[in-house]
Amino acid sequence: MDAKERAGEWAASQVRDGMAVGLGTGSTAAFFIRGVARRVREEGLKLRLLASSSYSTILLATELGLPLATLEQVDALDLYADGADEFDPQKRLIKGRGAAMVREKHLVHLSSRFLVLVDPSKRVERLGTHFPVPVECLPFSTGLVRAELVKLGAREAIVRPAGTSKDGPVVSDQGNFVIDARFDAAGDVAGLDDAINAIPGVVGHGLFTRYADRVTVAVGHADRVEIIG
Ligand code: A5P
Repeated sequence: MDAKERAGEWAASQVRDGMAVGLGTGSTAAFFIRGVARRVREEGLKLRLLASSSYSTILLATELGLPLATLEQVDALDLYADGADEFDPQKRLIKGRGAAMVREKHLVHLSSRFLVLVDPSKRVERLGTHFPVPVECLPFSTGLVRAELVKLGAREAIVRPAGTSKDGPVVSDQGNFVIDARFDAAGDVAGLDDAINAIPGVVGHGLFTRYADRVTVAVGHADRVEIIG
């Protein structure tokens, strides 16, 4: 079992019959989702499952035969489990490598317990060490948002390209663009979180600074899972 799989399996073991559970997005969350699907199959757990963190997760959960609720039907989650790109000693996060951070934050907000599933490479002293902060914006606001991010101290703010699968930019599940903003390891991350939210045209972003009270970080290692409660 690799580190991500171990973290995902541990999170699946935390699910209890009758819970409302949110399913995150990304390679680590996929291990969690597969683990939940196995437990539903083998143990007959009855769960309310919300896969709305992305179309990617809706497709995976559907393929696994999981019955899904919609966002309109669920206003609180007992548990939400998802990966992260970076976490710091205060259990603050950067998310959004997969451009799903807006929906992911919505589900975190609904949850009373948030399991962050990572491998050891995600641990940093200061957010922004390896990853940019992804900022989703309305397409017509792209120029304004890039300029404002630079004013906030970003040394680079680039529209994320789709790569070989499409010409032009990544288009989010909401039909928006994603700007990757690189800050020299962010200092006042809570202030930056608020300042980015205040830019006109910003739909959301990948700094998660206000949820530490509900976060448990599960760091998968080759032979164990380290829990940071
Ligand atoms: C999706 O947009 C992201 O927030 C992911 O949850 C995050 O990038 C972690 O992904 P991996 O588990 O694939 O590393």
